[in-house]
Amino acid sequence: MSYKLEPDRLQEGLRTRRFGKNIVYSRKVGSTNDLAKELADYGAVEGTVTIAETQYTGHGRLGAKWFSPVGGLWFSIILRPRLSVNDSVRLVFVPGVAVAQVLKEFYELEVETKWPNDVLVSGRKICGVLSKMNTTGGKVNYVVIGIGVNGNFQVKLSMPRSLRKTATSLEDELGGKVCLEELFRLILERLEHLYYSFVEDPSYILEKWKSYASFLGQVVEVSGDKEEFEGLALDVDQDGALVLQLEDANSKRVFAGAVTIRVKR
Ligand code: BTN
Repeated sequence: MSYKLEPDRLQEGLRTRRFGKNIVYSRKVGSTNDLAKELADYGAVEGTVTIAETQYTGHGRLGAKWFSPVGGLWFSIILRPRLSVNDSVRLVFVPGVAVAQVLKEFYELEVETKWPNDVLVSGRKICGVLSKMNTTGGKVNYVVIGIGVNGNFQVKLSMPRSLRKTATSLEDELGGKVCLEELFRLILERLEHLYYSFVEDPSYILEKWKSYASFLGQVVEVSGDKEEFEGLALDVDQDGALVLQLEDANSKRVFAGAVTIRVKR
């Protein structure tokens, strides 16, 4: 087993209907999300995947750079849900649930989800999700979901010092390397299953996502461009907003487009 992605083996044993039937592999790419958007604009079908060994301009939320060393799992998928824009907003929770379930069931890791779309192990981020929706009027043309899983590398050797306290990797948690093609296959199969259930009934995903959300009931610090404050995390509502109780007992909803949270431990 190689610690790097082996492109010829990505579809080996893959049991999906549509997801991953078309895979565009690059050894190096700017961002798999950008490439997926280009392909979606040219009409690529639902389930098309872009995947890379490494990205040199990987993006994270809120314009952050996403470090993508060799040994990680960096991929994006094109979705074309026949749903309203309002219902599609909750699609962002589907990948978090898929990754959390796979890491728990197949790698026996204690996972948590953190609003809006991180997966944590040992309180540190192991996976991030970036979703971009393309719409015309109220119609969704496509959604690109980008998933980054810190896999076969040690954070202290491969990531900037600034991330060492907040990030972790499968290698750090498991003390060894995993088969990336297998991880990819497991996530893709789970993602497809959850996605088609979501399209049937977009209301069900939040309960699944919340079952891993141990930050609920805890005090969190919220920071954005305009403000910084803290509050008790009460809930995530059907619009995907985080509902907080403030010190003055009023409640406040915050949206993922503008802020990030940190749990006060
Ligand atoms: C975040 O937590 O801030 C989101 C990170 C998303 C990273 C993935 S890696 C594959 C895809 N390509 C990108 O440029 N970003 C996403």
